[in-house]
Amino acid sequence: MNTTQMENKYQLPTYHKFPLVINKGKGAYVFDEKGDKYLDFYGGHAVALIGHCHPKVVKAVTKQLNKLIFYSNVVYNDQRAQVAKALVNLAPNAFSSVFFCNSGTEANETALKLAKKYTGKDEVISFEGSFHGRTVGALSVTGSDKYKKNVGNLLSSVKFAKLGDIKSVEKIITPNTAAIIVEAIQSIAGVNVADPTFYKELKKLAKTNGTVLIYDEVQTGLGRCGKMFFGELVGCMPDMITMAKGIAGGLPAGAVLVSEKIAKSVENGDQGCTFGGGPVVCSAILATLDVIKKEKLWEKAEKYGNKLKDKISQFPRVLGICGEGLLLGIKLEVPAKNIQAKLLAKYVITGTSDNPNVLRIMPPLTITGKEVSIFLNELNQALKD
Ligand SMILES: Cc1ncc(COP(=O)(O)O)c(C=O)c1O
Repeated sequence: MNTTQMENKYQLPTYHKFPLVINKGKGAYVFDEKGDKYLDFYGGHAVALIGHCHPKVVKAVTKQLNKLIFYSNVVYNDQRAQVAKALVNLAPNAFSSVFFCNSGTEANETALKLAKKYTGKDEVISFEGSFHGRTVGALSVTGSDKYKKNVGNLLSSVKFAKLGDIKSVEKIITPNTAAIIVEAIQSIAGVNVADPTFYKELKKLAKTNGTVLIYDEVQTGLGRCGKMFFGELVGCMPDMITMAKGIAGGLPAGAVLVSEKIAKSVENGDQGCTFGGGPVVCSAILATLDVIKKEKLWEKAEKYGNKLKDKISQFPRVLGICGEGLLLGIKLEVPAKNIQAKLLAKYVITGTSDNPNVLRIMPPLTITGKEVSIFLNELNQALKD
């Protein structure tokens, strides 16, 4: 049996897979079994924030693997201490603490729990089209029925508003609303982003109602959108920020940045996660943050994002391009999956979305001008053919 056959036989069939076996990666490229090289503008599912196998991450993790692979949060650890400090220092002043977990889903579950405890309230507002994860709590606040089939009852205290429409939030907010959770840019829905004023109005509304504002920055955070955090882009910070995806250079990790006022309400036992903040993962987060800061990758995201927007908007069959930095959705006259397949045949990996006409790209922030040009040439050709 080959690799494909083995996975198809032994792994639960929960994923639609690209017809690719990827066993190696370097920078913006991955390699298949034959050694063929693919330009990864899908970024390994938005995880390869600083590219595949970044040498600084490999070095830090290798060193840590030889020192201590794991000990939980019942003890202190140098890597965890340093990364907690580094993350808090990255965020604006109002943020004082961080909680470590393993994934975006867990980060969102944690933020929702902390919001409920802090406010003593129960209801949550989320947005149609949003994606926040697949466990019961995170799925309850996910605004797409596609992910909720055959799961029975989810949390009943969740209501959905429309991204960008503050009136739709005003209509459903009540004195019992604990949290508003917003996927900063709705990626899988087709890269939907609201006007900056919307996020400001949301914050005002949350404040008036004693409600906690949570930005799910699992995809948008740490430079991808042209700023370190999405809140800087729209001029309005939330009370909590959830992160995951590329935070640990490809290792599984999630984190919640918590503002001081909420942190003060948190007590021993309120939340826990065995593997969250483990030494190896923390060494990877430290190295990743170091690369982002030293190379000012948010600036690269902005520069190349603008270049891609500018060029792609002039390509044939393109109706529009949305998103920020290097999280972009290209709206096409034709089904995105057709263009995705054509690009794959030319050794370029891209993503689709829940909008059949939107092709999604989220390449590493470390891409070079040459790689951007290769992508643009291939996309232009695929759209012309
Ligand atoms: C915006 C957003 N939130 C949450 C999640 C869930 O993250 P994870 O798959 O790491 O649990 C995802 C995953 O794609 C996501 O894109």
